[in-house]
Amino acid sequence: MPATRPYIIGNWKMNGLAADLGIVAEIAAAARAHPHVDVALCLPATLLREAAARAGEALAIGGQTCHARAAGAHTGEISAPMLADAGARLVMVGHSERRADRGETDADVCAQAKAALAAGLHPVVCVGESLADRDAGQAEAVVTGQLTRSLEGIDRQQVTIAYEPVWAIGTGRTASPDDVAAMHGALRAHVGPGPRLLYGGSVKPDNAAALLATAEVGGVLVGGASLKAESFAAIIAAAAAVA
Ligand code: PGA
Repeated sequence: MPATRPYIIGNWKMNGLAADLGIVAEIAAAARAHPHVDVALCLPATLLREAAARAGEALAIGGQTCHARAAGAHTGEISAPMLADAGARLVMVGHSERRADRGETDADVCAQAKAALAAGLHPVVCVGESLADRDAGQAEAVVTGQLTRSLEGIDRQQVTIAYEPVWAIGTGRTASPDDVAAMHGALRAHVGPGPRLLYGGSVKPDNAAALLATAEVGGVLVGGASLKAESFAAIIAAAAAVA
């Protein structure tokens, strides 16, 4: 029995047009059908306001990143207050694709998480090791190091942590339940009681139940399988079954 409500977050990444807002409404209906599961969907900024209007209370809408500053001369960037203004309730920071594509460092991620909290958004802090790190036996050291630096000066009770091994994202490879249990145990020892620890990386309807039943896994962060209401709803239902 998990001590807290399972938390299921979808991440649409750079996908989604206005024509896809009907999917958001279907996911909101699935969230309403499972009131003991916390459900959120992190969307492209262009969809936030309309999605939030359609989502209602049961489905929280979130951003996928935010700038560390609240406003200013940063062409093309989006700040945490802007996300909140558009109806977001949470924001992911430090997703591995941003660390890789944009060179975001743990210090950047920490500043973004602080900006999110200052704007009243719940930060979902993402960490994860590369395959080279894992093969070198460094996975736990790398991930706990990322966490230490990404959460410096932040009240850990106010964040969610998503562990996403880089080699499992979008690859169809999932970490084994044993590996996930070992990492989540290490993360729990590192951050102490309180924050929910999510697993992410090729979570699908057919593996969600086993992952959600793993010790210290308080939810999942779902990329590809959140793009279709049917597969994301199946993952929400799997969470309801273990809740
Ligand atoms: P995936 O993405 O489920 O498509 O592997 C997970 C993520 O990047 O958050």
